[in-house]
Amino acid sequence: MAITGPSGCGKSTLLLALAGIIRPDQGEIRIAGTNVRTADDDAICVMRRDAMGFVFQLGELIAELTLLENVAIPLELKGVRRHEARRRARSHMKELGIEELGNRFPGEVSGGQSQRAAVARALMNDPVVVLADEPTGALDGDNARRVLDQLLTMTAIRGTSLVMVTHDQNVAVAADRQIHMADGCVRSDGLAAKCL
Ligand SMILES: Nc1ncnc2c1ncn2[C@@H]1O[C@H](COP(=O)(O)OP(=O)(O)OP(=O)(O)O)[C@@H](O)[C@H]1O
Ligand SMILES: [Mg+2]
Repeated sequence: MAITGPSGCGKSTLLLALAGIIRPDQGEIRIAGTNVRTADDDAICVMRRDAMGFVFQLGELIAELTLLENVAIPLELKGVRRHEARRRARSHMKELGIEELGNRFPGEVSGGQSQRAAVARALMNDPVVVLADEPTGALDGDNARRVLDQLLTMTAIRGTSLVMVTHDQNVAVAADRQIHMADGCVRSDGLAAKCL
């Protein structure tokens, strides 16, 4: 699903609400059986840890950890042993072509490489849904296209839903469902013909 709309219309706010980081005053949000508006903080945390992945505009990797350590975090948070978490992190990094960069720190890689690590990390916990807020917004055209293709492919082969804010109309029209927002409201919500 692609979310489009002018700056300030509420796209990022909607993603924060979907993630349970802010609670909506009205309406219902249900993710993997959890009612995000009424669930307690612990349940929301578990839902985020087990059912969600996140990719932001600028990787938001932890600067003090290597790329491999960053990618492995979601599994370590779930209690997977470090050795196993890192083995699986390496496998995701390989899928994205960044397996050589495991020992580098975020400050030592390019923007595109850092976004690839963010994509790898977002999928580590086998989430039900990945929330992405302009995941390629900070990359140049070629790089953006490549990272986006990887994000689309990796979610598609796993059957993971992807909810993505994008300014790129080409990306939006390629989505199965496109939501356009203005002034904090959904103005149009269209399923692509292939979904009907
Ligand atoms: N923490 C906050 N406290 C108060 N108002 C906020 C806060 N965060 C965002 N807003 C306001 O809420 C509105 C929606 O902001 P939001 O960040 O969701 O927009 P956006 O659609 O993501 O814009 P952009 O395309 O520029 O990222 C804006 O008017 C913004 O100023
Ligand atoms: Mg935003």
